[in-house]
Amino acid sequence: MTKNDLIIRVGGEGGEGVISSGDFIAAACARAGLEVYTFKTFPAEIKGGYAMYQVRTSPDHIYNQGDTFDVFCAFNGEAYEMNKHLLRPGTAFVYDYPGGDFEPDAIPAGVHAYPIPMTAAAKELKSARSKNMVALGALSVLFNISEETLSEVLSKKFGKKGQEVLDANLAAFAKGKSLAQGIKKTDTWRVADPKPPKDVIVISGNDAVGMGSLIGKLDFFSAYPITPATEIAKYVATHIPKFGGTLVQAEDEIASISQVLGASYAGKRSMTATSGPGLALMSEMLGMSAMSEVPVMVVDVQRGGPSTGLPTKHEQSDLFLAIHGGHGDAPRIVLSVENVKDCVDMAVDALNLAEQYQCPVLLMSDGSLAFSTQTIPAPDPSSYKIVHRKRWDGQGEYKRYVMTDDLISPMADPGTPGGMHVATGLEHGETGAPKYTAENHELQARKRFGKIKTVVDQYAPVEVDGSGAADIGIITWGSTIGVVREAVMRLREEGIKVKGFYPKLMWPMPVAQYEAFAATCKKILVPEVNFQGQLSHFIRAETSIKPIPYAICGGLPFTPAQIVQKVKEVI
Ligand code: COA
Repeated sequence: MTKNDLIIRVGGEGGEGVISSGDFIAAACARAGLEVYTFKTFPAEIKGGYAMYQVRTSPDHIYNQGDTFDVFCAFNGEAYEMNKHLLRPGTAFVYDYPGGDFEPDAIPAGVHAYPIPMTAAAKELKSARSKNMVALGALSVLFNISEETLSEVLSKKFGKKGQEVLDANLAAFAKGKSLAQGIKKTDTWRVADPKPPKDVIVISGNDAVGMGSLIGKLDFFSAYPITPATEIAKYVATHIPKFGGTLVQAEDEIASISQVLGASYAGKRSMTATSGPGLALMSEMLGMSAMSEVPVMVVDVQRGGPSTGLPTKHEQSDLFLAIHGGHGDAPRIVLSVENVKDCVDMAVDALNLAEQYQCPVLLMSDGSLAFSTQTIPAPDPSSYKIVHRKRWDGQGEYKRYVMTDDLISPMADPGTPGGMHVATGLEHGETGAPKYTAENHELQARKRFGKIKTVVDQYAPVEVDGSGAADIGIITWGSTIGVVREAVMRLREEGIKVKGFYPKLMWPMPVAQYEAFAATCKKILVPEVNFQGQLSHFIRAETSIKPIPYAICGGLPFTPAQIVQKVKEVI
């Protein structure tokens, strides 16, 4: 568990440069060889509303965003109001005063308060925009964040906006430093000393999905922009031309998945990325992919729903949609990532599985992971296995849906001599020509469902955290796994017998593995960030386990402390 970690939270108004400040702090810590795990939350509006960026940094591995901050920097009164209840003895509080839009109430005893006139200093420099850099300068001095690296990263970013903008920001940064140098530091918080560089990268969840898909030899990507998934397309757009691939921004989600299906039918490794509302629109074409057995990979970066819901907020509420969304009996494989490393690795898996099983494969991420930057080992593209679809060898008569031992039929790319066949969303016989008899529909449904059964044995076994008998077992999914890992470590330190079970293959469910795990635990708790307890529902439906749901939906991820408290209540 991270004992040397520090959590710095910056809060202010959207448009005030909260996100840039947080990005710079994270970059400085990462360049110092430290681990980082960031969390940001901001409103759906471009300007206004509360924006927050939290950087957790440590010389040790970090699994989640942490419980709460050690250092809080408030750019405005709203941020202060949102966070003042979290100020506790020992925390450091840096705030815009005098000259800002608020004066704090009585600051609780034991809080180390550092007023810095951010707005006033920026105004004095005739660069109101650079208030955030005044704050950054002060934070660098107060908490040992490398000033050299900060000025490098801010020069890189603001240099692109012109010399005048750059100069104003460097001046504001210097001003912030000198203001902090005049303050007596009373707390002990500081970013850990630099460590020797390791072969790591610091990357966001969305960029990592983009990177993984390119490692997975993606040929074609089509998507329609939607928060919080858009950055995946941006990443792929930047890099796919180097590999000879194509990216299209479609006119909507229905068009994007239709193009993906077309490209895949033409023999290309193809994918799209969206969020819940987009996935809902795609459900008809997911059925087409299942019926026509054309490989398709879809990334679903979940956000608060239903409808347009909470576009920028965290939720894990698309499991029902991912697994069963659509009409008819439409099989698919559903994977879910835990962290940024998984975003790379499992994007490769998802493309491979789509190609191997010739079916839709959904890769689920979530809003907090999408925007979270984390330190991960630098991926070595040559170490990933690439699985190609079964292709027709040109021998004999071609039958697109011929029955085989593994129920997967060879595909023939359009234009393959002798490989002509009818391709349709209608029920079909072996040749592809429509066929509606009762026997055939049942036979083909068995083929479509039967062929994906083996994925349960083929995919990596579910990780079990702990051994022997336990008073409580925690089953969870997605980015909540990282939170549970830390909670489990804390609970064990208190002598509580607890185990974790962390599935990444969500569907088909590895039922035997769930049941074997549950057999070793007196109780099963299932924390997840949605109202209905969606994974709990599937566990009840598919296994003999009687889980205790712990479902929350406040637009934020769990904290380790919440899980620890709930476990204690339950046992
Ligand atoms: N000097 C000059 N420019 C500065 C600056 C400074 N000191 N500090 C920040 N900026 C710039 C940033 O570079 C950025 O510009 P860019 O977009 O050209 O890079 C811009 O000001 C915004 O700053 P940033 O720090 O990135 O964000 P913020 O903390 O001010 O918050 C957001 C703004 C991100 C919350 C908001 O713009 C946003 O995107 N909201 C979400 C919208 C959304 O997705 N809605 C959902 C629709 S369904």
